[in-house]
Amino acid sequence: MNQFGGNWTEAKMEIIVEYAKAYLIIMNKQPWAKTLYFDGFAGSGLIEVDEGEEVVKGTSLRILEIQDPKPFDKYYFVEKDEKIKAALEANIQSNYLGKNAHVIQNAHIVQADCNTKLIDMANFLKENNKFRTLAFVDPYGMSVNWESISALKNLGIDLWILVPTGLGVNRLLKKNGDISDSWLTKLETFLGLPRQEIKDHFYKTQVINTLFGEEITVNKEKRTITKAGDLYKKRLGNVFKFVSEPFVMRNSTNSIMYHFMMATNNRSALNIANEVIKPKYRL
Ligand SMILES: C[S@@+](CC[C@H](N)C(=O)[O-])C[C@H]1O[C@@H](n2cnc3c(N)ncnc32)[C@H](O)[C@@H]1O
Repeated sequence: MNQFGGNWTEAKMEIIVEYAKAYLIIMNKQPWAKTLYFDGFAGSGLIEVDEGEEVVKGTSLRILEIQDPKPFDKYYFVEKDEKIKAALEANIQSNYLGKNAHVIQNAHIVQADCNTKLIDMANFLKENNKFRTLAFVDPYGMSVNWESISALKNLGIDLWILVPTGLGVNRLLKKNGDISDSWLTKLETFLGLPRQEIKDHFYKTQVINTLFGEEITVNKEKRTITKAGDLYKKRLGNVFKFVSEPFVMRNSTNSIMYHFMMATNNRSALNIANEVIKPKYRL
């Protein structure tokens, strides 16, 4: 069972499910297209909320429930943890075995790293151009490499991605700019940018003339979490034609934890994503 919580978890799941329903209505009018749902961080299918007080269905089980106007043709669930992957299999079986042959036959569940499978999916879509994909990438931390995202260029994918701006990027950006080599490497891998560019983006360097010569001070820019969200949105804009407004997720003290956004090559898909996100801003 996955444990995490808060209204934003529910809001995020509602966004992706609402979007998936709208997506399937549109794809239903394009009978030549095959639909694939890709979930890169699938979890067990069940989520404990309110410190275990309540168990709710996770996104994977909610997506499998969609039947009207049609279900997805294929589902691909990626989960790195062996036990959680087995739990997802068991939860799908217990919900659908003997009840829905389509789900049982077409839900593929793999134990793997999301990065590898994003690249495999890109290769699959290049060879199978009738497939259109809705991808959901929902990590806890900075585990999605930019290389995996850039592999998705020019493909028929609508990608919803949770970007750990406050809980990830900002934590590595130390106040005085003295960031360890391993953290800089992490930032480079995550953002797909060289470290100097990252430093220039998030820090201000000032040279002050003092009695004893020049003194260089490095200060972190203001609103770096928002800047990180804007930067990731811009980076996605180099791979996809359009990127939605982000749904900004905050904790109980109003600090930003994540930016959740959708990237696509289809203008109508962008409009739908923005419509779906809009009411959730009021959280
Ligand atoms: C936030 S939870 C997923 C919740 C799920 N998306 C939902 O809405 O029900 C993240 C899951 O990703 C798994 N995970 C962590 N790193 C991973 C990776 N690199 N590739 C695939 N799965 C990973 C974790 O074991 C965990 O179950």
